[in-house]
Amino acid sequence: MSETPRRTQVAIIGGGPAGLLLALILNRAGVDCVVLERRSREYVLSRIRAGVLEQGTTDLLRLAGVGARMDREGLIHDGFDIAWRGEVLHIDLRELSGGKTVMVYGQTEVTHDLYDALDAAGVPVIHEAEDATPEAIESDTPSVSFRTRSGGEQRIECDFIAGCDGYHGVCRQTIPKDRIETFEREYPFGWLGVLVRKPPIQEELVYAHHARGFALCSLRSPQLSRYYIQCRNGDDVKNWTDEAFFDELQTRLPDSIAANLQRGPSIEKSIAPLRSFVAEPMRYGRLFLAGDAAHIVPPTGAKGLNLAVSDIHYLSRGLVAHYQERDSGLLDRYSEDALARVWKAERFSWWFTSMIHRFEDDGGFGQRIQEAEFDFLASSRAAQTALAENYVGLPF
Ligand code: APR
Ligand code: PHB
Repeated sequence: MSETPRRTQVAIIGGGPAGLLLALILNRAGVDCVVLERRSREYVLSRIRAGVLEQGTTDLLRLAGVGARMDREGLIHDGFDIAWRGEVLHIDLRELSGGKTVMVYGQTEVTHDLYDALDAAGVPVIHEAEDATPEAIESDTPSVSFRTRSGGEQRIECDFIAGCDGYHGVCRQTIPKDRIETFEREYPFGWLGVLVRKPPIQEELVYAHHARGFALCSLRSPQLSRYYIQCRNGDDVKNWTDEAFFDELQTRLPDSIAANLQRGPSIEKSIAPLRSFVAEPMRYGRLFLAGDAAHIVPPTGAKGLNLAVSDIHYLSRGLVAHYQERDSGLLDRYSEDALARVWKAERFSWWFTSMIHRFEDDGGFGQRIQEAEFDFLASSRAAQTALAENYVGLPF
């Protein structure tokens, strides 16, 4: 384990996709950085997360030199299906978006590839860094204090701090309450997800609306499937045997699709809440927020990881220009540029979530609006084009 440096140019708090990708891009550009991650590497790599990458994401990963395994093992998807009232509407992403597609490749694999690349580049990633605390973020000489079992209390002086520590992290909380504004919408349901080592129900994803609730059929590989069903807020995984889960999933799918369901023992089963959340601005003094530290989207549109990547696109280009060209113009625009794209992804994720889930409290009017939303989508190429453009990812 390399000695923790006393000083660096950019201290990155959080070793998830946002923090790791930022560290790799900065390292490639000759900018000194250190990653402080609260958890062990094993813990970080044990997390099961979404797996649909926009073209902008795959392009940036390749540019950062971590696209090789993704291109070998990832699956290009040209479209997906929406199931409604027993009907199946195919959304042809490639045709509707003018040739763009998405890549199915698990976030865990992206994180794995990023860690491997950082190790190979010798970038210090300090795991089990406890109580990382941004300090003097309003000054020109910020620092981060933290503690490790082996090194005790430590402090790293730096020029900038990147808060990539996720929704429950410390960095956003460091910004004075009167200098940050948050926007939030909670949804009255969660997603119960199951991972099963069986071939997927079909090659492309299926997003299903049903009177009993939403269902999603996804995958990680031709041998590993990922399924979700909408569940009550406060529901407990213990209430769901594998059999009960697959029975409910089967009920919510059209017979033509459900007929191909291959059941098996779940190797992971968990419930995630759904929320929309944005913090503005994404910068305070020398502290920059990126990824889930600054915003959360409901997983319906598969935007979480992709938004973290686009934040890093904006933040890394600003930091590199600051150090290489002594030009801080892009860095000063970071929050404005990142938020412009964040809010468009928040809108899309909210719209898709609102259309396809069952809202018990919306009554007859809400359900008729959902029906009309789907009927318009099914009958309008313009509506399908708008859906496709958002799903494959709006330009950076
Ligand atoms: N100090 C150091 N590390 C911390 C702290 C802290 N105080 N608090 C949290 N962390 C770490 C977490 O352990 C996690 O590994 O920060 C990392 C944040 O990673 P993510 O939560 O994955 O967030 P991000 O990198 O922005 O990626 C967003 O990840 O959670 C998914 O759905 C989300 O797909 C989206 C993507
Ligand atoms: C997933 O595979 O976990 C996944 C896919 C698409 C989504 C959400 C999650 O919209």
